[in-house]
Amino acid sequence: MKALVTGGAGFIGSHLCDALLAEGNEVVCVDNFFIGTRENIAHLHNKSNFKFYENDVCDLGILSGIFAKENIDFVFHLAANSDIQASALNPAVEYYNTYSTTFTLLECIRLHNVKKLFFASTSAVYGEKDGANVAEDTALLTPISYYGGAKLGSEALISAYAYMNDLSALVFRFPNVIGSRLTHGAVFDFIKKLKADNSHLQILGDGEQSKPYMHVSDLVNAILRFRDVPQGVTTYNIGVGSQTRVTRIAEIICEELGLQNVSFDYTGGRGGWKGDVPKFQYDLTKIHKAGWNPRFSSDEAVRLTVKEVLA
Ligand SMILES: NC(=O)c1ccc[n+]([C@@H]2O[C@H](COP(=O)([O-])OP(=O)(O)OC[C@H]3O[C@@H](n4cnc5c(N)ncnc54)[C@H](O)[C@@H]3O)[C@@H](O)[C@H]2O)c1
Repeated sequence: MKALVTGGAGFIGSHLCDALLAEGNEVVCVDNFFIGTRENIAHLHNKSNFKFYENDVCDLGILSGIFAKENIDFVFHLAANSDIQASALNPAVEYYNTYSTTFTLLECIRLHNVKKLFFASTSAVYGEKDGANVAEDTALLTPISYYGGAKLGSEALISAYAYMNDLSALVFRFPNVIGSRLTHGAVFDFIKKLKADNSHLQILGDGEQSKPYMHVSDLVNAILRFRDVPQGVTTYNIGVGSQTRVTRIAEIICEELGLQNVSFDYTGGRGGWKGDVPKFQYDLTKIHKAGWNPRFSSDEAVRLTVKEVLA
């Protein structure tokens, strides 16, 4: 299989490239280093079945040229803005990097007759559901962040393109994903802050925010396992059944760094920032029924990630 991975120099995308290459596939990666880094894929450049294009996915002419040249069988679309806090101040970032990347890519898929797509969606499409255990067929999707809105818009485009072009699309709505090469989020921020000053730690919100954290290895295994779907769109919530409180993340990091007596300073409020969903869980029945379970619980994923990042 020849796979195109958009956003392949990013955190999850680079792990997906590793796994696809390990399976013996050819991998074509497109990334403009908007957030991803050269280091994430530095170890891949000597592989004969890996090719990298430093390009903007929104450039239809260039992307279409890559499709024409490479004969792509399967597209894994991960390019997006992943810094939700940043786009809260500048929604255009989501329109461009999250929504328009999807549109441009779908146009290439249509023009070059590719039939298989994986899309990295998010639990943020649900919005704030007050602790309700939301399933994939929940009709009321009410994102509260520009990011969630742009991902939901992308899902809608994928639905239309799948119908119009006989496409088989797998959509995973994932929670917080963590692991080595992490680029953002509480685990990343707290480690960075504590390395700069280990006497105190500023925590956004009241620290009671509680979310499922999934290790990237579990996610990548599931993407590969479920990638072959029937024509149309198949959507799964994917994640872990447990959650980790933000204060607990700070405690685990302090334990792993061997720090005691760090004072935690809370900025207050339920969410870390406007658009942050403070408590989240969702219904994983569908993917469990399909025989899939993660290896790591939320707390285990956090501790493993801290060890990986520190190493
Ligand atoms: N990490 C999470 O917790 C999480 C949760 C839910 C969904 N997702 C989704 O998974 C995907 C990967 O996320 P990640 O955490 O690895 O983030 P990431 O920022 O590390 O990866 C995204 C990559 O897309 C690239 N990119 C962005 N705009 C681009 C453009 N216009 N042209 C070319 N490349 C572009 C970035 O440079 C980056 O390398 C994203 O679609 C994200 O929305 C991530």
